[in-house]
Amino acid sequence: MKAWRLSELGLPWDVLTLEEVASPEPSPGTVRIRVEATDLNFADILQCQGTYQEKRRPPFTPGMSAAGEVVAVGAGVALEVGQRLVGSTADGWGGYAEEAVVRADGAHLLPPDIDARSAAGMHVTHGTAWFALHRRGHLQPGETVLVLAAAGGVGAAAVQLAKAHGCRVLAAAGGPDKVETCRRLGADAVIDYTNDDLYATVMAATDGRGVDVVYDPVGGGYFDIARRLVAFEGRLLVVGFASGTIPSAPMNHVLVKNYSIVGVHMGAYRTQAPEVIDRCYEQLWELQRSGTVEPLISATIGLADVPDALRGLFNRTTTGRVVFAP
Ligand SMILES: NC(=O)c1ccc[n+]([C@@H]2O[C@H](COP(=O)([O-])OP(=O)(O)OC[C@H]3O[C@@H](n4cnc5c(N)ncnc54)[C@H](OP(=O)(O)O)[C@@H]3O)[C@@H](O)[C@H]2O)c1
Repeated sequence: MKAWRLSELGLPWDVLTLEEVASPEPSPGTVRIRVEATDLNFADILQCQGTYQEKRRPPFTPGMSAAGEVVAVGAGVALEVGQRLVGSTADGWGGYAEEAVVRADGAHLLPPDIDARSAAGMHVTHGTAWFALHRRGHLQPGETVLVLAAAGGVGAAAVQLAKAHGCRVLAAAGGPDKVETCRRLGADAVIDYTNDDLYATVMAATDGRGVDVVYDPVGGGYFDIARRLVAFEGRLLVVGFASGTIPSAPMNHVLVKNYSIVGVHMGAYRTQAPEVIDRCYEQLWELQRSGTVEPLISATIGLADVPDALRGLFNRTTTGRVVFAP
């Protein structure tokens, strides 16, 4: 089978090579799938560089999530050949390949009416947004939510899920095309935070009160502005650090303003509380079936185009999810 392999850490478009390799044997607790769709995640770029929280030693195939049909089953796994699922990849055999190895725990069988491309487009994006907003953020209908990088993968999903929950959504993104994307997603107000004053615009839009919930996949300087925008008893959801800078917060500010800084690590639920992951995807498939949410898939690419597409994601030029489908 063909697979992108990385033999040293670095930027993926510099270090990945497309190789013909033998299909891997699935280890205990995993299955091998024929890849039907893989979502391109910012975290894959970090993992190639060795800066992601879950480290992987070369050689490996990146692509942390994938959807497809089971073709081989490892020891101790109740799944069967022929079943179709989406899940997190394992053992260094990720989704940027014709076949991948997927962890059986936390994998989800695809209902017959959910296609692999949609499942890949929603697996990490909407899963993360669901855990952040509902499980960790306890979002209530009627609350106001500020989403940063709102035209991106996990950001666009948060706009959709917060709107579906009856919230007012302020969407911040970089550039006129991206804010237009946010408007089409249903945001109530949009902010081009590369040109407009994020603090002043959000304060004006909320009569000086601030927002109940901030959803932040960016970190860096935007986090510092965002924490000053959290209203009394609000929640600042720490989702990621796409800016490359992990921020810090002064605890006197947190104390005086009575707000919470809430960490979000969806992957940890695989071992800590897998039943919550099942509940999350049951709800997400239902929302998709009813037409309430739809994955924002901006491009579907072939295997040869994966490194270039990752470069686009790194350079802030993508919206929603880019999906690789063989
Ligand atoms: N906590 C979790 O469980 C979890 C799960 C999945 C992903 N994440 C994290 O969430 C973040 C977003 O992931 P994603 O895959 O959905 O990516 P993405 O949002 O599609 O792409 C990253 C976006 O971040 C914004 N950004 C701001 N400053 C940037 C900079 N200096 N360089 C690059 N991008 C910058 C850009 O949007 P603008 O141009 O609009 O600013 C860019 O499009 C990543 O840090 C990822 O690791 C966390």
